[in-house]
Amino acid sequence: MARILITSALPYINGIKHLGNLVGSQLPADLYARYMRGRGHEVMFICATDEHGTPAELAAAKAGKPVADYCAEMHDTQGELARGFRLSFDHYGRSSSPQNHALTQHLAARLGQAGLIEEVTEKQVYSITDARFLPDRYIEGTCPNCGYDRARGDQCENCTKQLDPTDLVNPRSAISGATDLEVRETKHLFLRQSALRDRLDQWIDSQQGWPVLTTSIAKKWLHDGNGLQDRGITRDLDWGVPAQFDGAPWQGMDGKVFYVWFDAPIEYIAATAEWAEAQGLDEAAWRRWWREDEGADDVRYVQFMGKDNVPFHTLSFPATLMGSGEPWKMVDYIKSFNYLNYDGGQFSTSLGRGVFMDQALSILPADYWRWWLLSHAPESSDAEFTWENFQASVNKDLADVLGNLASRVTKFCRSKFGEVVPEGGAYGPREDQLIADLTTRLRAYEAHMEAMEIRKSASELRALWVLGNEYLQDAAPWSTFKTDPEAAAAQIRLALNLIRVYAIVSRPFIPDAAASLMQAMGSDDWSWPEDLGAALATLPAGHAFTVPDVLFAKITDEQRADWETRFAGTR
Ligand code: MF3
Ligand code: ZN
Repeated sequence: MARILITSALPYINGIKHLGNLVGSQLPADLYARYMRGRGHEVMFICATDEHGTPAELAAAKAGKPVADYCAEMHDTQGELARGFRLSFDHYGRSSSPQNHALTQHLAARLGQAGLIEEVTEKQVYSITDARFLPDRYIEGTCPNCGYDRARGDQCENCTKQLDPTDLVNPRSAISGATDLEVRETKHLFLRQSALRDRLDQWIDSQQGWPVLTTSIAKKWLHDGNGLQDRGITRDLDWGVPAQFDGAPWQGMDGKVFYVWFDAPIEYIAATAEWAEAQGLDEAAWRRWWREDEGADDVRYVQFMGKDNVPFHTLSFPATLMGSGEPWKMVDYIKSFNYLNYDGGQFSTSLGRGVFMDQALSILPADYWRWWLLSHAPESSDAEFTWENFQASVNKDLADVLGNLASRVTKFCRSKFGEVVPEGGAYGPREDQLIADLTTRLRAYEAHMEAMEIRKSASELRALWVLGNEYLQDAAPWSTFKTDPEAAAAQIRLALNLIRVYAIVSRPFIPDAAASLMQAMGSDDWSWPEDLGAALATLPAGHAFTVPDVLFAKITDEQRADWETRFAGTR
């Protein structure tokens, strides 16, 4: 039994996520966690909301709420949706937790003691009325390029020109509208990533079998310059982890917080500490996952994320951990994703374009979405959601293949043999052949799941379902029954056992349907079918079962057309 630590990139707190966000980290991480648990490994699956930074402050201001209240509410909302999608986190934490404050400050202090933090004086816009420094996007004014009068300090939304706050004509505070702005000097802490460049380079080279997408992004940042410049790790904001604490070897950081990308990945660790506290366990319980000197040396750590997050996880976060001089567990494998597009364009949070997690669950159960999203995961390239494709996948794979098999077999058995596994007859060559074919496919499925090849796993799973259907087509117990009821009994006994096996192997993809199938088979034996011959003889003759409710309803053309219009525009 192995110990596997799994983290999903932490979703920003600033609103409900769309399906593209979901398939880019949380959902595939859940698939992997469920699979590894199913194989009997010890899994720690961690996620949390990423709550700091300007986007959180802006979203709270827009909602007219104090930022702490906004974050608490949105954390609950996102947590509810995560449960709705059956994301099986061991803990769903908050980057604003006391644990993360403490750990972030601790790591910064260690980096400071190691001489890896430097104080730098910069010039920044200060608002006298607001009594604070303004981040670029808190400054508005007239665009010098196109004359748009609501351009932001970082960019003009109208003509897309990238701006500096000092470029704006008639600049004003986006918070209060105040125009009494001035440029003042302010101090910030910089992490000297450049000093860690060689160690990071060696560490990346020593990683076995990282995906090309991951390594090439990391190497590009490492060698092209920009990525490994020293990096500002503090901001002039109120909301965040204060960059002020006992023993800090620098002064004058009052009123500043750490940059959100500094504290967010540290929350992977802190959330595990939150988990231990919530479980009533001691510190050692979480440290055995994270400290190589306290047991984490035999943990395998896998991270899931969208490709835009890769530089932060291959360079910045490792720099934080390495630079601390403490034996923190570093990532072993990074699984990163391209983007999912929506019906000929992009998903857009600001435009409300596409399907968001709450909307998805309001029209169909989680399994329908899980199946489509995972079987179309944007692995080797971007992928696209279309309603037509979604309808076809659900109707074919889930309703016609899996659902239909379960319903046909159980109903037929009920009408001819009653609601128990039928007696009599023995498995013959056709059954032996099926078991051999299923075994080949199942071993391939396992290999793809181990390798986190998600689309390939989905197609092997589908192929396993198809084998069962072909067998039934061919054996045709409904006709066999007329001439040789004993043989039909054996065929149906096998098919009922196959339904239980399908529940087990399909569970990582479609956990609710798997639970219904298992329950209908009157069993709670989820042990992995290492030996398919034995697994298909688990439910003995005379074992009671029930006919499951319709597992998957087909999506009609009317529904599809309705949803297509409903989700085209603004939320
Ligand atoms: N919130 C970031 C995003 O959605 C991801 C943060 S991952 C973490 O892109 F590791 F920093 F937490
Ligand atoms: Zn402009």
